[in-house]
Amino acid sequence: MSRHHNFIIAIDGFSSCGKSTLAKALAKKLKFAFIDSGAMYRAVTLYFIRHSIALDDQEAIDNALKEIHIDFIPNATKTEIHLNDEDISEEIRQMYISDKVSEVSAIKAVRVAMVAQQQKLGSRRNIIMDGRDIGTTVFPDADLKIFMTADPKVRAARRYLELTEKGEDVTLEEVVENLASRDHIDSTRAESPLRQAEDAIVLDNSNLTPEQQLHFVEEEYLKVKALKIQA
Ligand code: DC
Repeated sequence: MSRHHNFIIAIDGFSSCGKSTLAKALAKKLKFAFIDSGAMYRAVTLYFIRHSIALDDQEAIDNALKEIHIDFIPNATKTEIHLNDEDISEEIRQMYISDKVSEVSAIKAVRVAMVAQQQKLGSRRNIIMDGRDIGTTVFPDADLKIFMTADPKVRAARRYLELTEKGEDVTLEEVVENLASRDHIDSTRAESPLRQAEDAIVLDNSNLTPEQQLHFVEEEYLKVKALKIQA
């Protein structure tokens, strides 16, 4: 059983599997804080692009990381993500960030800095954190670990719909390519690649509604909670 007193739920999986959607709904239901770790890598990517940081310039990267402060600010309807006090929640969802974020998140110094911040964010509260390495690296002793997966075609179609609904000018082929390339980089990188933790529960949501997914995880949560109380 875990060494911490707060309850930590780790949700990992491939890009566009619906991790954030599930994590948000679960956080609302359980009244846990939700932390989208991918948004943090996206914030770093935005900073690097704005400041023209070359991805092979270690010194520039180290200096930039010292200047990057990321906060999650809950408001009435959602949690905003702030980069040095600027709300960048919308900006980081754009395709030009998605195209670069896997490269940025493969850099060791970036990961070390973000993992430290993520561990700090989860040190005292009940949290749900979603990402790629939460159950393996960030919180290896998380109370509940979910590994999400879905058919690549279903994932691409969902993502395409999401982007075009926001008015982004993308084709389905571009989305398919972006997902395939991110899957490849995320799961083959040297630094904490995306992989399923041995004790993670797999959730394939290709044919599940959001309600069914929520129900599935909630049941698992209740089982672990009962055990944690007994311990
Ligand atoms: O979940 P997302 O698509 O917003 O994540 C953006 C990128 O960040 C993704 O391509 C991989 C990376 N990432 C990571 O390496 N580790 C995490 N814990 C979360 C995201």
